[in-house]
Amino acid sequence: MKNESQVRVRPARNVRGSVRLPGDKSISHRYAMLAGIAEGASRLENYSTGADCASTLGCMRSLGVEWERKDGADNTIEVKGRGLALAASASALDCGNSGSTMRMLSGIVAGQKFSCEMVGDESLSRRPMERVIKPLSAMGAQIGSHGGKPPLRITGGALKAIDYKMPVASAQVKSCLLFAGLFAEGETRIEEAMRTRDHGEVALRALGVKLDRRSVGQGSEVRIRGGQALRGIEARIPGDLSSAAFFLCAAALFPGSALTIPSLLMNPTRARLLDILMQMGLRISVTQLNEIHGEMVGTLQVEGGALKGTTIAGADSAVLIDEIPVLAAIAPYTEQGIEVRDAKELRVKESDRIVAVATNLRLMGAQVEEREDGLTIPGGQTLHGAELDSFGDHRIAMAFAVAGLRANGETVIRGAESAAISYPAFFRMLEEVAER
Ligand code: S3P
Repeated sequence: MKNESQVRVRPARNVRGSVRLPGDKSISHRYAMLAGIAEGASRLENYSTGADCASTLGCMRSLGVEWERKDGADNTIEVKGRGLALAASASALDCGNSGSTMRMLSGIVAGQKFSCEMVGDESLSRRPMERVIKPLSAMGAQIGSHGGKPPLRITGGALKAIDYKMPVASAQVKSCLLFAGLFAEGETRIEEAMRTRDHGEVALRALGVKLDRRSVGQGSEVRIRGGQALRGIEARIPGDLSSAAFFLCAAALFPGSALTIPSLLMNPTRARLLDILMQMGLRISVTQLNEIHGEMVGTLQVEGGALKGTTIAGADSAVLIDEIPVLAAIAPYTEQGIEVRDAKELRVKESDRIVAVATNLRLMGAQVEEREDGLTIPGGQTLHGAELDSFGDHRIAMAFAVAGLRANGETVIRGAESAAISYPAFFRMLEEVAER
């Protein structure tokens, strides 16, 4: 990323106050895409402020969808749906750093009667797209790629339904195929061996699509019929739970912490982090629990306590995939440490997050064991401030700002601007709640 910026983090005594988070990134992407192919207008309040969700909006505009930001602090977007048929884009669709944009939107583009190119930045250009290319091709789309990586050249058209068991646990792929299923003839069935976040299913229903869902062992099965029309939605997007993770882990570092997080997403397929942090010693209570368009929302009260260690493995690794970097970054400060297994997917995120976490922790003086599918980080360690790199990855930049709060001395995060991919105001908010 250009325009490198540095952020300095000083040690803190406590984390106290209230943090209201911008809208959830996963939901914002899906609402923006589905609102674009809906009949009629949609109004999305508290849309994610992250650059990734702006990439999705940019792509939708290139595909002929009109939308505008409404004035005021609420980050409200109004979208004029075009119905299922989008317009051919004059230029390549720029997905920026956003794997979610490229993977999920490819399902919609594959259903269009035109060809279109999807491109991404340097990091996205290294990420695997075979996982959407294979099933979309089986549905009848023609997709060219650079050895399974971006850029993608998609020639859409008459899709046929597919019965597909996903080989990789990925909510992006599941949403991509459900979106493609809207354009396909017949009923598409997607099966996942491990249950991943279900925002695609919930959003489709919120926009009036009928789908059948059932649990299958640890996973789930979803069926969707093609040709269904979507209707616009008026929604307030709940606060981003994966952004909240940084504040929750920061609070977990200090027994005297007390934090309130209002209107936070509480979707059960995302909330595993709360169970894990409670088992580790954080006290969390939820009030004002509500459901908005199928998504649970609540207000969190958090109090610090002793910080025990934990193991993250199996199905937990899939549902906690975005939160593992910050859990790993606080691991040396826990009593027993943290072991992460079955998390090979971390290697193909915005950076190789296993390498990024291990490198930065070592620079802070921590002992870390790195494995192909995870990390073992002993507890009871004392870390010192150091000059760290974000690896151009938003979650790494934010995770190590949190780790810096309990280090001895000052921590510098190079490439800190990458936090804006999901949460531009992050460092300001962290400063607001860090007591010194
Ligand atoms: C996301 C799914 C996850 C996650 C990403 C957002 C989503 O990716 O890491 O940040 O919104 O569906 P995978 O589908 O690759 O697991």
